[in-house]
Amino acid sequence: MTTTALMNTYGERKLTLVKGEGIYLWDDQGRRYLDALSGIAVCGLGHSHAGLAQAISEQANTLMHVSNLFNTEPSEKLAELLCSQTGMENVFFSNSGAEANEAAIKIARKYGNDKGVKTPTIITMNGSFHGRTMATLSATGNPKVKQGFAPLLEGFVHVDYNNVEAVKALANDPAMAENIVAILVEPVQGEGGVIVPDEDYLAQLREVCNQSDWLLMLDEIQTGNGRTGELFAFQHTDLMPDVLTTAKGLGNGLPIGACMARGKAATVLQPGNHGSTYGGNPLVCQGALTVIRTLIDEQLIANAKHIGAYLLSGFNETLKDDAKVKNIRGKGLMVGIELTQDCPELVALAAQAGLILNVTAGSTIRLLPPLITQEADADQIINIVSQLIREL
Ligand SMILES: Cc1ncc(COP(=O)(O)O)c(C=O)c1O
Repeated sequence: MTTTALMNTYGERKLTLVKGEGIYLWDDQGRRYLDALSGIAVCGLGHSHAGLAQAISEQANTLMHVSNLFNTEPSEKLAELLCSQTGMENVFFSNSGAEANEAAIKIARKYGNDKGVKTPTIITMNGSFHGRTMATLSATGNPKVKQGFAPLLEGFVHVDYNNVEAVKALANDPAMAENIVAILVEPVQGEGGVIVPDEDYLAQLREVCNQSDWLLMLDEIQTGNGRTGELFAFQHTDLMPDVLTTAKGLGNGLPIGACMARGKAATVLQPGNHGSTYGGNPLVCQGALTVIRTLIDEQLIANAKHIGAYLLSGFNETLKDDAKVKNIRGKGLMVGIELTQDCPELVALAAQAGLILNVTAGSTIRLLPPLITQEADADQIINIVSQLIREL
């Protein structure tokens, strides 16, 4: 079915999906697909997870929404769980990743304005993606998604990803440094092509932030919630961010985002400074609580680490002699296979072979299978993708 009643912002959609269970999806023709995309890094528990469905159903029958004029138990419990698991101190709940980043951007700007900075400016990275709202679009380092939306917001300066020297150059330029208040960065760039930076990159950014009194704000919308093999990607390191945003896998499909803060960032927003009617309502928070508890209780984060490594070594083996393969990389269950040529046609070819995947940054096949993926599923993914690349 293709209706013209939906605004055409996503282009042509070939498949109509009607059902999901575990790692599988079914279309309206009864065809089954192995889902190596998870609704773009969202459905970590897979589809139709029984525990999650039950939690949502019970909460829907108890209390769905009252607004943030009242306390509700699920939001308090979820905030406490996120803080205890990350070391962050408090949380603002939003409805999406872009909105979580909006909260982070507001924290950075108010942090700057409170200390008398003239034009609070945030460093973001070329190739980054932070969302589609006007502030997050302005923060994003991809000219293609910004085209046609001028005037963008001021207060962002972009440097190359994985280049600490470029950040230090800004810190050492008095005219720039006096306005900079924060760095907003993805621990692994997702939409930008699954770009994994050097191991000490975040630690070095932390160092510059400490020296310059800037906030280190990590966008873990995509890397969070177990995807990279730790609950949050920064937990592969020893550092702590000042602000941490997430969404996607937090709700397994329920619309929820979170902006967490600690230290000086945790007290910047005061009553009246920010809000959201739906943000953190009992329905989505009870669902997200179940998601995080299940990820931990069922050791799905360790599974993401194991299956991620399994996929990388499998692809390295099957594709080692293929000249079309430029690079194979990833962290946990964020895997990218960069080809020497653009390959958008692979999405439809993979679907014909019964596999849902995505191509990003033109030439990078992106695999984001659910955290429940088993070795036998990974074998299927490796076989189908390798075969498609060989035949390209
Ligand atoms: C790193 C990152 N930040 C922000 C976003 C925006 O999240 P949402 O689409 O939920 O607004 C995305 C979405 O792909 C993302 O990958």
